[in-house]
Amino acid sequence: MSKSFLEVDGLSKVYPDGQGGDLTVFEDVRFALEKGEFVCIIGHSGCGKSTILNVLAGLDEASSGNVVMNGKEVKGPGLERGVVFQNYSLLPWKTSLNNIVFAVKARWPKWSKDKVREHSERYLKMVGLDHALNRKPSQLSGGMRQRVSIARAFATQPELLLLDEPFGALDALTRGVIQDELVKIWEETRQTVFMITHDVDEAILLSDRIFLMSNGPNARIAESVKVNLPHPRSRATIFQNPAHHKIRDYLVDFLVNRSGSAQPEEDGSPIVIDPSAGDAAPKPVPAKPDTKTETAARAVNA
Ligand SMILES: Nc1ncnc2c1ncn2[C@@H]1O[C@H](COP(=O)(O)OP(=O)(O)OP(=O)(O)O)[C@@H](O)[C@H]1O
Ligand SMILES: [Mg+2]
Repeated sequence: MSKSFLEVDGLSKVYPDGQGGDLTVFEDVRFALEKGEFVCIIGHSGCGKSTILNVLAGLDEASSGNVVMNGKEVKGPGLERGVVFQNYSLLPWKTSLNNIVFAVKARWPKWSKDKVREHSERYLKMVGLDHALNRKPSQLSGGMRQRVSIARAFATQPELLLLDEPFGALDALTRGVIQDELVKIWEETRQTVFMITHDVDEAILLSDRIFLMSNGPNARIAESVKVNLPHPRSRATIFQNPAHHKIRDYLVDFLVNRSGSAQPEEDGSPIVIDPSAGDAAPKPVPAKPDTKTETAARAVNA
């Protein structure tokens, strides 16, 4: 059986519940990522998304299960995995260029000074910040800081990029601009990305697949939704594609009506759904009145 780039198997996280018992936040989470995929994960607050991301980053330990990347078990952080948090985490005493230079030097210690600078500048340019190379984080807006941290993460070309709600703190307009930058930079680099978001439209714009988590405790990754929309995508035109509406409706219905009860396949892997397949897919088996959407969705995938 061929192995995927990243394989997550039987992951669970248990905390003491403060009353002498245990609280299982999520359990038996299993999924695989292929090289070059952009995958978003969506689920209600507290279901364990950041914990999963931190386990992939090697910053947190799972209570059980394992993560294997390129055939090697992930234990602890490593330069082959880059993380972008919601709060930018730039070095405040360094300029935007030097924040990137610092990371690039750590990644490729043998590179010449000129090569490091040229490479770092190229990534700042990709996020439209070539005019702000010499400004320190305190002299940048929140959106600009977030662009620097995204440029830094991509510049070090990690094999896996982990983004935890990277635009969560931004206003809608700035967020849109940076989403466009991220689309552009990803089209150019095609790095493997695993990203948490609460924004359904953002997930559709960026992802090849969207993982849907059921609510905790005992949360699971219940479904993997295909985003069958052509690349390159544009925020301005993507909604004109009829498939966009089908995917959006599907995601919203999951979050509003089904996240409390959704379950993965019996073997624990997420149920694969392609909302865009629509009428081309086999017709749903007659639905029970209270599970109409779920049955239809499963049938789309059949
Ligand atoms: N040290 C801890 N002790 C006990 N429970 C914890 C601890 N750290 C996190 N949790 C619990 O684990 C659960 C998952 O937290 P996590 O931050 O992964 O959620 P999340 O899905 O990222 O939520 P959000 O969307 O709000 O960011 C939460 O219910 C939280 O209360
Ligand atoms: Mg979180």
